[in-house]
Amino acid sequence: MISTTLKTQIWFCLGKLKPGRSHEGNLDAATRAYLSSVNQKLVDLRRRYDQIKKPGHSCWAAWENYVNLSRFRAENDYLSQAYFSRSLIRYRMTAAYVEAVDRHGWLRSLSEDGNFGAKLWRVDQDLHVSRDLLDSILELCWLEEFIGWDLNEAIQVLDIGAGYGRFAHRFTNAFPNGTITCVDAIATSTFLCDFYLRYRQCERWTVAPFDKIGELSSGRFTLATNVHSWSEMPVDWVRLWLDLLSDLDVPYLFLVPNFEDLRTRELDGSLGNFGYELERHSYRCVAKSHKYHRSDIMERFGVYPTDYYLFERTRTRKREVPCGTKSREP
Ligand SMILES: C[S@@+](CC[C@H](N)C(=O)[O-])C[C@H]1O[C@@H](n2cnc3c(N)ncnc32)[C@H](O)[C@@H]1O
Repeated sequence: MISTTLKTQIWFCLGKLKPGRSHEGNLDAATRAYLSSVNQKLVDLRRRYDQIKKPGHSCWAAWENYVNLSRFRAENDYLSQAYFSRSLIRYRMTAAYVEAVDRHGWLRSLSEDGNFGAKLWRVDQDLHVSRDLLDSILELCWLEEFIGWDLNEAIQVLDIGAGYGRFAHRFTNAFPNGTITCVDAIATSTFLCDFYLRYRQCERWTVAPFDKIGELSSGRFTLATNVHSWSEMPVDWVRLWLDLLSDLDVPYLFLVPNFEDLRTRELDGSLGNFGYELERHSYRCVAKSHKYHRSDIMERFGVYPTDYYLFERTRTRKREVPCGTKSREP
């Protein structure tokens, strides 16, 4: 069976890939100058991250050497966007699905301009969407439904492997009292996340550099999120992050792996699994569903189907349940 990635590459070479529209946006000279590999802030972050004694990286080991800083939302390792075929119809169907589950009208209010290379798909006369927008709304709707979040609740999120701040951007726009702290172990991601959340004029966010995560306060966070990240690192890294979540006594974890299992990518290219580490750190699965849990057809034809998990920590120092978690069969 030929993999989707290989098919995508073949279609790309044949010129048949419909890549969606993509542009950097009208960036001013200062922004262009800032997004440079010689920016002192980035150079300093890279130096500091290199000095820390930590496990090696697998999928992300070489990423910083080839990322295009002014097109960081383009088709790349942060977010795959196009398919080898039928991308537009997939985006149309996904947008229709999102419209149906989105009680707050986020599909239109959380707008998308495509800046920094995000691929735009015209799904209706006056509506362009991106995978960033659609995935973020589905994640927020799921959390609202499965945790029982109220829109005005003062939720405090810790986003691990936050990338360029996709989720933080959407979350702070959707939840007017929510705050979010973004962490990542790749210096360029920390740099871009800090830049992007300022560029989008988001409020109530912090980016904690990796060498400062020891300063995060225990008992403060309502929820940790990890979206498409733990699948892309060795299990030693996942263990390190779960140690942190235990130290910080974070009661809930929202997890979105890349695959239908909890596999990791090890340094020698082999597969590991972090299921045992979740158990060992007392995180128990209390809800699990397909990303498109209201439609089997969407599971086949929607944009990047996956599973959503909610874990609850069974051993906490003080349990002040911040939200009325719905109990669902995992
Ligand atoms: C596919 S991107 C997903 C980004 C973001 N969570 C999202 O959904 O848009 C994977 C992220 O994991 C981060 N990452 C890679 N290795 C990591 C590690 N060892 N610890 C934490 N984050 C890591 C990368 O820098 C990147 O931001």
